[in-house]
Amino acid sequence: MPFEAVPLSGSLGAEVRGVDVASLDDAGFAEAHAALLEYGVVAFRGQELDPDAYLAFAKRWGGIHLHPHLKGLDDRPEIIEIVREADDPTGFADHWHTDQSFTKTPAMATLLYAKEVPAAGGDTLFANLYASYDALSDGMKATAAKLRTHNLYNKHAPRSEKMQMRVTEKDKPAEPAYHPLVRVHPETGRPALYLSDSRSTRRFEGMTEEESLPLLDWLMGHATRPEFTCRLRWEAGTLAIWDNRRLMHMAVNDYFGQRRVMQRITVKGGPTVGILDAEAPRQAA
Ligand code: SIN
Repeated sequence: MPFEAVPLSGSLGAEVRGVDVASLDDAGFAEAHAALLEYGVVAFRGQELDPDAYLAFAKRWGGIHLHPHLKGLDDRPEIIEIVREADDPTGFADHWHTDQSFTKTPAMATLLYAKEVPAAGGDTLFANLYASYDALSDGMKATAAKLRTHNLYNKHAPRSEKMQMRVTEKDKPAEPAYHPLVRVHPETGRPALYLSDSRSTRRFEGMTEEESLPLLDWLMGHATRPEFTCRLRWEAGTLAIWDNRRLMHMAVNDYFGQRRVMQRITVKGGPTVGILDAEAPRQAA
């Protein structure tokens, strides 16, 4: 089933109308997959999915990644409901990050289904990490290629009351995960910066936080330059899927007094491969 993906910005993102994801045949699914690789985030408008249909669509992308520290719905542990009540001043995911970069094998993709959205606000921003890598100087690329990041989940970060209630085993410290700062996308072979803001990416391996933060702050500012981003305005029924291997995202917390309810499913990913590790076998061959 051919469909038209309309770009959301010059850098990344696309939206698709008139397609029912639950009835995509294999050719249609292959097209959705190609669109994900091309645009990084694809928003399918106007979906009407019950939890079974939503889960079935998510499983076409791969196995389901269960969040190590957040509890899903009682009857559907694969689905995490992200609820921000109208009177809750704190948000959830309202900072730049890639999903589950604090785990050794972070989620490959995330599906987010809008159930209830504010009249205005509550958009999600995305940043293209291929583009921000490509725009680095050769000197910075060479330095970045050698660095690995230390990532840790913060169970006590400020987050909306409902989301804080979903955090499991609050007293048990989270385990850190290390990733290359420049990772190679396993499907496209393209290098991308790979980081989250300092809530997850705390420092570089072998360095202190004080030593690491100036470069991490510079990289975050660089990676989120407007020309590397797009903005997704949600409608109830929008189902977006994004590729965590090549972008960061953040929810904009600008809708105090209104409710927002989203359902999230994440798809399993593999280990992260750094650019030097990816080049080594090529040179040896
Ligand atoms: C997330 O990062 O998982 C959620 C983003 C959003 O709610 O827009």
